[in-house]
Amino acid sequence: MRSAPGPMAPSQDLFAPKDSIRRTAHIQSLEEYQRLYRQSIEQPEEFWAEQAKALTWFHPPHTILDADPNQVDFSWFNGGRLNASFNCVDRHAKTRPGKPAIIWAKNEPGEYEVITFRDLQHHVGRVANVLKAHGVRKGDRVCIYLPMVPELAYTMLACARLGAVHSVVFAGFSAESLRERILDSGAKVLVTANEGPRGPKRIPTKAIADEAVEGLSQLEAVLVVRRTATEVNMQPGRDFWLDAEMARHRGTCPAEWMDSEDPLFILYASGSTGKPKGVLHTTGGYLVYAATTHRYVFDAQPDDVHFCTADMGWITGHTYLLYGPLLNGTTTVLFESIPTYPDAGRLWRVVDDLKATILYTAPTALRALIREGDTWVLKSSRQSLRLLATAGEPINPEVWRWFHDVVGEGRCPVVDTWWQTETGGVLITPLPGVTPCKPGSATLPFFGVEPLLVDDEGRVIQGNGVSGNLCLARTWPGQARTLYGHHQRFVETYYSRFPRLYFTGDGCRRDEDGYYWITGRVDDVLNVSGHRLGTAEVESALVAHEAVAEAAVVGFPHDIKGTGVCAFVTVKPEWQEASTEQMVGALKEQVRHAIGPIATPDRIVIVSGLPKTRSGKILRRMLRKIASGELDNLGDTTTLADPSVLDELLARQQPVARPRS
Ligand code: WT7
Repeated sequence: MRSAPGPMAPSQDLFAPKDSIRRTAHIQSLEEYQRLYRQSIEQPEEFWAEQAKALTWFHPPHTILDADPNQVDFSWFNGGRLNASFNCVDRHAKTRPGKPAIIWAKNEPGEYEVITFRDLQHHVGRVANVLKAHGVRKGDRVCIYLPMVPELAYTMLACARLGAVHSVVFAGFSAESLRERILDSGAKVLVTANEGPRGPKRIPTKAIADEAVEGLSQLEAVLVVRRTATEVNMQPGRDFWLDAEMARHRGTCPAEWMDSEDPLFILYASGSTGKPKGVLHTTGGYLVYAATTHRYVFDAQPDDVHFCTADMGWITGHTYLLYGPLLNGTTTVLFESIPTYPDAGRLWRVVDDLKATILYTAPTALRALIREGDTWVLKSSRQSLRLLATAGEPINPEVWRWFHDVVGEGRCPVVDTWWQTETGGVLITPLPGVTPCKPGSATLPFFGVEPLLVDDEGRVIQGNGVSGNLCLARTWPGQARTLYGHHQRFVETYYSRFPRLYFTGDGCRRDEDGYYWITGRVDDVLNVSGHRLGTAEVESALVAHEAVAEAAVVGFPHDIKGTGVCAFVTVKPEWQEASTEQMVGALKEQVRHAIGPIATPDRIVIVSGLPKTRSGKILRRMLRKIASGELDNLGDTTTLADPSVLDELLARQQPVARPRS
């Protein structure tokens, strides 16, 4: 059943590690990786028991892995008791109190605030006591809707300290999206801010939150971070300023002894159908996986300054901005701004100011910066950098080379990490300075990870030089355990397409050397600027508009975003006289308001009919090709119920197509 898990000797087009590169402190050679990889596959329990020793356990686990694949139920480190906040904060506050834990890079360039491990312990304890005073207990859910401010980290760790489950909602999401997530998780407290400076804008965070929680009786309190001096509406009895609340409490708060399988957090992710799913991660396995992957993938060193540009609202923020680095006692950068504010030199300025050693970012950000020219990069020193990494989407080889040659001056390995919200941590990745890289390939599986390629009929594809649906043959500690409150949906979403295998939703090629190349989603999920967006979500937002009869949303190649959003829409008869320009504007606003700016369609095409089969199924594949400008092979057009629909689409394709340059 198992196909080529280990690497073969790589052949062509390799960026062989240079001798000048500092070798990983943890893995010295490709042979050592291969040996350890084999051990992790042959004796997973021994391997993960060893890794678990990096954490402080109040009580050690009695069993490393309990799995019931028939029920799609996995438990790691059963019997173990630990606390995430204790592991991230207290043990370092004791041994290295003065070391910076978090460096907050504020929205305005040159403004920084250093939070040492001692400070962090104090702030986390205070916030935990505030939450407790507002009735938060072990198992309760707390929703966090905050810009990138230190209180975001304090609140997550404070929840973990009490055993409450945090649910961070990206502050770019709309009121409607926030409300949906508060309802689904049953949160009893919401933590938000008066305002969120982000680049040149100021997001009215509290006003959006007010709209989201209107009339929700489940919320016992709304705690508000005072980020700016701006006054906002405060509802007496419900809304409290967090700073004033913190001033009432001391910084000492005992850490709950959590079971390994107790929930740590919920994070909502888009799927191919329905509303976003509450991906649930538990304590022991997630933490062991976060610490282990952070150590090996980023080759964590004691003097690192780890700069991950992701927002905390995504899994990358959770695992490699907060938990992974702090578990390993690494200084982590919390970046409030955006890479283009006030100009395209911002990231390099932060790198130089803070002497960042690791830069972890998304290909979409790099593509946007490349467009601005190399001078922004060349003006900076970047001598502190020793490692570059990307995540979220396939990296174009030319972007990889720019990152490697221009940003890293050929000195720094580039680590392309493939993973998902559901995987908790990185699954396919090079090890820096050890794995020879091929630009555009995430290369080889991490320890304990067994990728499989499966054809559409569910047959495992053996050997190399093959493509298929990317599945995982076995569980790993960082795997999400369920969708909050919807276990059956978890089973159906991930384990029904290919029974007993976890299906990632990605297509993938395994080349002649056994290297993995992710080719993108094979389901109805779009990867827009490294963010996951369900086409169904955007369609629901569109049809919620009174003028819309039907909508079909597809992706198309986009220079900066990777994938752009294109919506084909039919309008109701009474709206057909409306101006197209106004309608398109109104529908873009509709989606932005319903989901958030990231979902705003790049193109909206109003047509008189959608291409459908005689049984009424929308021919999405045809729409995808039209949107991408691939007109020579539209598939079988004889299945169309009404062929004139296609003629109209083709006549309209000019403004739709935006081929990749
Ligand atoms: C989807 C998961 C990386 C975690 C943050 C995104 C795509 C992710 C890569 C990569 C090619 C990638 C996949 C995956 N993806 N990393 N290195 N190369 N594709 O997590 O929002 O859950 O999205 O992002 O399509 O399924 P997410």
